[in-house]
Amino acid sequence: MIRFYPFSAASARGVRMTDADGRSYLDMTGSGGVAQTGYGHPRVRNALVDAFDRQHTAMLCCHSNGGATELAERLCGLLPGDFAKKAWFGTTGSDANDCVARLLPLATGRRRIVSFVGGYHGTTSGSAALSGHQAQAGVIGGGNVTKVPYPDPYRCLHGPCSRDGCSLKCLEHLDRYAFGAVSPAADTAAVIIEAVQSDGGEVVPPANFLPALRELCDRHGVWLVFDEVKVGLGRTGRMFAFESSGVIADAVTLGKPLGGGLPLSAVVGRRELLDVDTFSLFTLGGSPMPVAGAMATLDVIEAEGLVGNAAVMGRRLLEGLGEIAGRSRLIGDVRGSGLILGVELVVDQATREPAPIDAHRLVYRLYELGVLAIYSGLAGNVIELTPPLVIGGVEVDEFLSVFERALADVEAGRFDDAKLAPYAGW
Ligand SMILES: Cc1ncc(COP(=O)(O)O)c(C=O)c1O
Repeated sequence: MIRFYPFSAASARGVRMTDADGRSYLDMTGSGGVAQTGYGHPRVRNALVDAFDRQHTAMLCCHSNGGATELAERLCGLLPGDFAKKAWFGTTGSDANDCVARLLPLATGRRRIVSFVGGYHGTTSGSAALSGHQAQAGVIGGGNVTKVPYPDPYRCLHGPCSRDGCSLKCLEHLDRYAFGAVSPAADTAAVIIEAVQSDGGEVVPPANFLPALRELCDRHGVWLVFDEVKVGLGRTGRMFAFESSGVIADAVTLGKPLGGGLPLSAVVGRRELLDVDTFSLFTLGGSPMPVAGAMATLDVIEAEGLVGNAAVMGRRLLEGLGEIAGRSRLIGDVRGSGLILGVELVVDQATREPAPIDAHRLVYRLYELGVLAIYSGLAGNVIELTPPLVIGGVEVDEFLSVFERALADVEAGRFDDAKLAPYAGW
């Protein structure tokens, strides 16, 4: 089990959690990017209670229920792209990615898929096979999946790179060595990517990368699928994270916040993809209560302008963290898109050697000071921030002040490492 510090939640409301002793914590995790509308939102609660009273469960694969059809149509309407679309429902992000992994070869007649090193797509066999994260490294599978480097401006393998634009050498790698050799383009169904690589360390690709990737895929007749499980539904300041690049997705996978806290995932995309196989079903996929949670979550996101709030609060966090970074010896990089942000800690700002132990100390110290955060990244040295999208300026400023204090303590060595021993983290 991944744990970071001895916290156990007894209750939660808005952007705060409370432990059994009644101590309140500012939650900068949003429960892994699930609590989009904050905890206990009255509109989500009322929708769930109503759904329970109407019909608390149903098996969508046996008979349709109105809510699921309405949600499918709403999600298809939200996804940009002038083509016939369809939606499929499951229960968790992993099964949504499993579903695309299974359907893509059947729909295209092409057997292979390209994904990215650092990508986290889930823990079922198919989604783990797509993943390039150390968490799934123990699973051997997916002989049809080729993993290529994700464009990381801070750790580019091809020389200086910036978020405003890059040389696209990594795409040359994909074109020449994946499509040109081990995953021949004519036998490749799709490329699957996170528009911001989350568990891989909150990596935001250079601005010109996704448009160039789309162009490359189009040239080879390869579909482009975005895993929006963690970064979708408003988190980046757009409804879908890939939208800031201006490209069109052939399909997206959704999960985490979709069901308003109840288990619900979706694949939304080209009709040809989702028409292919009726056997990709889960008994409780699209069950009435999670569907009601999803409709209410989308209602709240729209009614409360949470997509815009994510953009504004994300900028405020990014600026504040940037100022703190200017005074810190441990912070190598600060990055983010809306309310998914990463603070990468390094031993030495010149060599950029990762500082995972300092990241472990920092999240523990934050916990002691009343802020919940976790770390991510291939080296476990990136502080991940994915708060509920309802966070306001007061809480952002509270976080920044606690963060600077916790960082100062870690930098000054005011931390007893014995406290870390029971917590494995990633
Ligand atoms: C980008 C991404 N895709 C898929 C998943 C898997 O979702 P779940 O854990 O709900 O199965 C995760 C989980 O962290 C994720 O971050």
